[in-house]
Amino acid sequence: MRIDNQQSTINFKTSYRKVIKPGYLMGDCYEASTCFFRKDIQWNSFFNHIIEKYRNTQKINVFSLASSDGSEAYSIAMLLISKLGEEGAKKFFPIIAVDFDKTITRNARKGFMNLSADDELRINKYTGNKLNKFFERTNRSFLSEPMGGSETRELLTKFKTRPVLQDKVVFITEDLNTYVEKMPDKNNLIFCRNCWPYLWKTSDEFAQKLSQKTDKNSYLVVGNFDTLCCPMNLKNCYGFSMSKDFQNVFDKSGSGYHDGMRVFFHQMAED
Ligand SMILES: C[S@@+](CC[C@H](N)C(=O)[O-])C[C@H]1O[C@@H](n2cnc3c(N)ncnc32)[C@H](O)[C@@H]1O
Repeated sequence: MRIDNQQSTINFKTSYRKVIKPGYLMGDCYEASTCFFRKDIQWNSFFNHIIEKYRNTQKINVFSLASSDGSEAYSIAMLLISKLGEEGAKKFFPIIAVDFDKTITRNARKGFMNLSADDELRINKYTGNKLNKFFERTNRSFLSEPMGGSETRELLTKFKTRPVLQDKVVFITEDLNTYVEKMPDKNNLIFCRNCWPYLWKTSDEFAQKLSQKTDKNSYLVVGNFDTLCCPMNLKNCYGFSMSKDFQNVFDKSGSGYHDGMRVFFHQMAED
C-alpha cells in the first residue's frame, strides 16, 4: 500500500515503514522498522531478573515507548506469558504501547502482523515453539518493499494476532514528549528503544522527564540504535545508572556506574 499526501510519502509495507519528517536527524526522516525479539537486549536473563525483582510487587507498569507496530510490546507479553503463565503474568498487563505515527498505531489495533521467517524463528525460540498459541497463520504471503534504502526484500506472511496476545497491549497515538508527563512515577518497566535519534533536540528534556518517572523500582531500556543520541549513554546523568549486568538497561540504583566504552562495542551474546 502506498499513501501519498502533500506533506509526506508513506510507504507502509508490513513491519517496515519509512516516513519523511522534515527537520529530524537521519536524513530528515524517521523509520519505524522493528522486529520480534530485536537483538539488542538479553531477553531471557533480563526477564528472569525482572520476574525476581518484582516478585512481591502487585502491579508493574510496562511501557513500549516508540512502539512502532507493536512487535516489541508483543515480544514482552509473549515472554512473560511463557515464563509465568497468563495468570502469573497478569500484573504486568496491559502493556502500554505509544507511538506518534497514526498510520502504524491504527494498523496495530486491527490485530494483524506480518512476520518474516526470522520473526517466526525468534518467536518460537523465546516461547518454546508457541507461535501458534499467539498467532494464526493466514494464507497470504508477499514480498516487502526494498528495505532500508537497499534492494533487500523480505518474504512476509500475514498472521492474525490471537486475543490471548492482542488483549495484553493497548496502543496509544501520542508524541512521547507529552505522553511522558502522564506516566505514573513508580514501578515502571520502560522500553524506549531505537527512537532517541528521532527525539533529537528534545532528547535532553525528554530524558529529564523520564527520570522523574523512574524510581528505584523502575527500569529504562534503550536500544543499540540509540548509542550516541540517548543522553544517558554519553554520561551518567539525570540520576540514571547504567546496569552492570544488562546491556542497554538503566536504573536508579545510584551506583553511578557508567561504562563509556561499552556503547561502542555492541557484541552481546544471545541468551
Ligand atoms: C525504529 S522504530 C523503534 C521500534 C521499537 N521500539 C524497536 O526498538 O524495535 C522508531 C519509532 O519511533 C517513533 N517515534 C519517533 N519519534 C517519536 C515521538 N516523538 N513520539 C512518539 N513516537 C516517536 C516512530 O514513529 C517509530 O515507530
